[in-house]
Amino acid sequence: MRTMDELADVARFYEHFAEHEAKGESATFESWARGLAADREVVDLVAGLPVGKRQPNLVFAAARRHGARTPSSYPVLREVLTTRWAQVRETILSKATQTNEVGRCATLLPVLASLPGPLALIEVGASAGLCLHPDRWSYRYLDGSGEEVARLDPQDGPSSVRLDCTVRGPVRIPPSLPQVVHRGGIDLNPLDPSDPDTADWLETLVWPEHEDRRAQLAAAIARVAEEPVDIQRGDLLTGLDAAVDRAREAAPGATVVVFHSAVIAYLDEGGRARWPQVVTSTLERVRADGGAAHWVSNEGAGVLPSVTAGAGCPPVSSADFCLGLDGRGLGWTHGHGRHLSMR
Ligand SMILES: C[S@@+](CC[C@H](N)C(=O)[O-])C[C@H]1O[C@@H](n2cnc3c(N)ncnc32)[C@H](O)[C@@H]1O
Repeated sequence: MRTMDELADVARFYEHFAEHEAKGESATFESWARGLAADREVVDLVAGLPVGKRQPNLVFAAARRHGARTPSSYPVLREVLTTRWAQVRETILSKATQTNEVGRCATLLPVLASLPGPLALIEVGASAGLCLHPDRWSYRYLDGSGEEVARLDPQDGPSSVRLDCTVRGPVRIPPSLPQVVHRGGIDLNPLDPSDPDTADWLETLVWPEHEDRRAQLAAAIARVAEEPVDIQRGDLLTGLDAAVDRAREAAPGATVVVFHSAVIAYLDEGGRARWPQVVTSTLERVRADGGAAHWVSNEGAGVLPSVTAGAGCPPVSSADFCLGLDGRGLGWTHGHGRHLSMR
């Protein structure tokens, strides 16, 4: 039996998602979220899920997997949730929102390429590891009026994946892509992009109207699914030392770069507070041993307040991520890598 408070919390959660996340990004998800928030019978279904499984992104992706076509409006979602709830619920319980956004490489690249190479990359919260291949994509950087200011391709020629990113302020675009000699990481649930069911789920997680992102994701998976990466199952708060040791053993002398995007928000308050100390002390250990090591973060504005405090320029939108190097905010990035602003 759900309490009135629980029902009201779910309705508010979906209203908030409609207004602050979906509006302007996905007309389908805005309609679905507003409709669900106002539908007592469906709110009751969602409130029966464990708290961590009630997010719109997960519920909507599961509904799409079970036939909710898009683009569409709320009645389509309602039909699937009310007639196929047992199957939808099973998918919600067995899957997680692990959206892997290769476009973020465009906003990470200027920082990664500014570090002394070659690089040993360690991505914490790597999902399927697509962001571990920044040297395998093509990039086009544009100014505010859409004019191309720089173009970069991998050493062996243009990639089937081209990431476009608008830059504002003194962003230093590197002359070439960095040399990556190790690709490792940690995830609570590492995904294998060569598995067709996993690839299908990753594509379902991309919002309905974002066809360009879906095509980009499919091309990225096709390009790197068979490339070796060393992503270990584990928690980033406890697994970092081991991941760094593996990287140093695999690539002695390379610059260790621990990075993450859209991950730290998944930690509870205590975990978020601890993470900067965990990563800093691990990297200090590498430096004390004569190695080079850096921390690159790309997280929502409120997620790592000490990093955000140093990002001098205003974000383009409140949904922007703060880009940080070694705990210092450098600027702001679009959550899917579409723009980068620096002071
Ligand atoms: C939204 S995805 C982002 C994936 C990737 N970083 C990107 O930018 O495309 C978040 C990932 O973080 C992982 N994750 C969440 N909490 C974690 C933790 N405590 N330790 C390791 N991985 C975690 C999730 O399993 C998921 O794959």
